[in-house]
Amino acid sequence: MKGIILAGGTGSRLYPSTLCTSKQLLPVYDKPMIYYPLSVLMLFGISEILIISTPEDTPNIKRLFGSGEKLGLKFSYIVQEAPRGIAEAFILGKDFIGDDKVCMILGDNIFYIQSQMKTYRAMVNEDNDMATVFGYHVSDPERFGVIEFDDNKQVISIEEKPKCPKSNYAVTGLYFYPSDVAQKASSLKPSKRGELEITDLNKLYLSEGRLNVIPLKRGNAWLDAGTPDSLMESSQFVQIIEQRQGLKLACIEEIAYRQGFIDKTQMEKIINGLKDGVAYKEYLQKVYEEKHDLY
Ligand code: G1P
Repeated sequence: MKGIILAGGTGSRLYPSTLCTSKQLLPVYDKPMIYYPLSVLMLFGISEILIISTPEDTPNIKRLFGSGEKLGLKFSYIVQEAPRGIAEAFILGKDFIGDDKVCMILGDNIFYIQSQMKTYRAMVNEDNDMATVFGYHVSDPERFGVIEFDDNKQVISIEEKPKCPKSNYAVTGLYFYPSDVAQKASSLKPSKRGELEITDLNKLYLSEGRLNVIPLKRGNAWLDAGTPDSLMESSQFVQIIEQRQGLKLACIEEIAYRQGFIDKTQMEKIINGLKDGVAYKEYLQKVYEEKHDLY
């Protein structure tokens, strides 16, 4: 399975913080925002990743990750010239996707789902012909794509930012599609706001009976960090968990090591490449010396 991180957009809701940097490079507590969606792809076992961003921001993201080799990953980059919608990612990524399934995650989405990862991984890999999206119960569904269920918990409709939401279940920014997604995205027409809407793409799969919706469990968290308040809340969320447990969220080197993308020698190399006294280095050293698996 391939992975795409969409890190585009103008970040206008975070103006002026985004005047000369990308939203996805702003820190969420102790690391750049984009580490969080990247960590989700890695936890799903995905190592071939396409990052799509703006002409201005792509060079900076490249500086951050390079080829991905250091983490045992393979990154490629494509520029989205204008914010023409989330679904355009699949048109831009057509050759990258090829005949594989693809997982796309939005660059400002933060998931805390590691405890359920085994279950979710099995679910998204069950049927190669189905698309899968995740639903999450939120207090402000009108900000999102909203899922309507019938009495048997079957999905009836999905609406993009409805004024009168038919449920509290938002579609999160984590999507899994079969390889025909590029072709389907090409058939979409721009919405009133001039964008190729991910919701319209999901509606196509729904109309063909090919859309699975997995409600995220109550113990899971999904946050988007695209506004000043949600960015602050996300940072606080990460800070609380990390300080209490002494374990980091979205530490991509740790995940690469624990998932087996890199071996001991490469982990040592990464650690040795960091300056003494850097807290992040001390954390990685602890991870490296840990004698048993974590629960
Ligand atoms: C987008 C999608 C929406 C989805 C949300 C998740 O919204 O259009 O359906 O629920 O991402 O973060 P946007 O980021 O464009 O407001």
